[in-house]
Amino acid sequence: MNSSKEIVVSGIRPTGNLHLGNYLGAVKNFVQMQHEYQCYFFIADYHSLTTHPKPADLQNSVKQVLAEYLACGINPDLCTLYVQSDLKEITELYMLLNMHAYKGELERVASFKEKVRTQPDNVNAGLLTYPVLMAADIIIHKALKVPVGKDQEQHLEMARTFGNRFNRIYGKDIFPEPFAFNYGNQLIKVPGLQSEGKMSKSDGDANVINLIDSPEIIRKKIARAVTDAGPSEPNSTPAPSVQNLFHLMKMVSEPDTVQKFVQAHADCSIRYGDMKKQLAEDMVNFLTPVREKIATLRADEAYLAKIAREGAEKAHVSAAATMKEVREAIGFPKF
Ligand code: TYM
Repeated sequence: MNSSKEIVVSGIRPTGNLHLGNYLGAVKNFVQMQHEYQCYFFIADYHSLTTHPKPADLQNSVKQVLAEYLACGINPDLCTLYVQSDLKEITELYMLLNMHAYKGELERVASFKEKVRTQPDNVNAGLLTYPVLMAADIIIHKALKVPVGKDQEQHLEMARTFGNRFNRIYGKDIFPEPFAFNYGNQLIKVPGLQSEGKMSKSDGDANVINLIDSPEIIRKKIARAVTDAGPSEPNSTPAPSVQNLFHLMKMVSEPDTVQKFVQAHADCSIRYGDMKKQLAEDMVNFLTPVREKIATLRADEAYLAKIAREGAEKAHVSAAATMKEVREAIGFPKF
């Protein structure tokens, strides 16, 4: 690994299986970035604890995401791939950053306000300080670029705030400013199948296409995706639900195919049934090789264990070096 390369950090919570939103919003960029940058990619298992998973489910999900990362093309020889909870330095930096993170600013974070609204019975301190933990993940390796989807933009702003604040308070220049990154220059939001919002498991399984969904499931989910009554005048704007299908089509179909359906919508000849069938077939072709690789990798527990162990060792070197600077800056005595 070339240490003069810019540093990249990103993670994904193990909340089941990766879906197309995770892939297109994040992992696809990771695969490209590992060739150009010094990358740290991890499985954010501490973050998933805010929803209290059962131990066996957590363990299974972590292994599943590891297999999915690898199946998508993350190469542990080109990057550092690890499980967050294997990196104990993260918890120390999280705790130290918490001393300078204020209740008011944390309560104003959009993702926190959303959780307060959707899960009022489980507004735990981990949820409130979620952006602090995420900042620790990023700045512990002194990252400059963080490949994420649009939903994480505010968390990146907080990471900059906490890093800058630490530098200022202790009069040191330890943490550079990290920024959200996407190759297309614009952060993306992959839409869900049933809603106008982002593709997300929290809106139910029918809303997401998982990387491991079988061809039958993919066809069924796309067939049931919400549409509108069809264009009644030429060149009308499709309803958001139909725009969603066009978005997905642009991601997995040939440009000519997309153009054919765009044109059919413009001249009112479109049949959504045909469009969905085409989208489903292109989606199946896109995902089948990935699904097959995931199954093979997931079955090889010894290989997964080796990858996680080696990744943790590599990540530890960088994290420990930063923590040495942090501890000195804070003034912990060296006896
Ligand atoms: P998480 O696990 O919710 O999502 C993982 C990544 O997938 C992206 N993503 C999407 N992108 C586009 N459209 C969608 N519908 C969509 N759904 C998910 C997310 O933007 C994210 O990039 N807090 C983070 C995990 C995390 C992290 C970090 C990320 C913890 N520490 C440090 C970067 C750096 C999260 O919950 O992502």
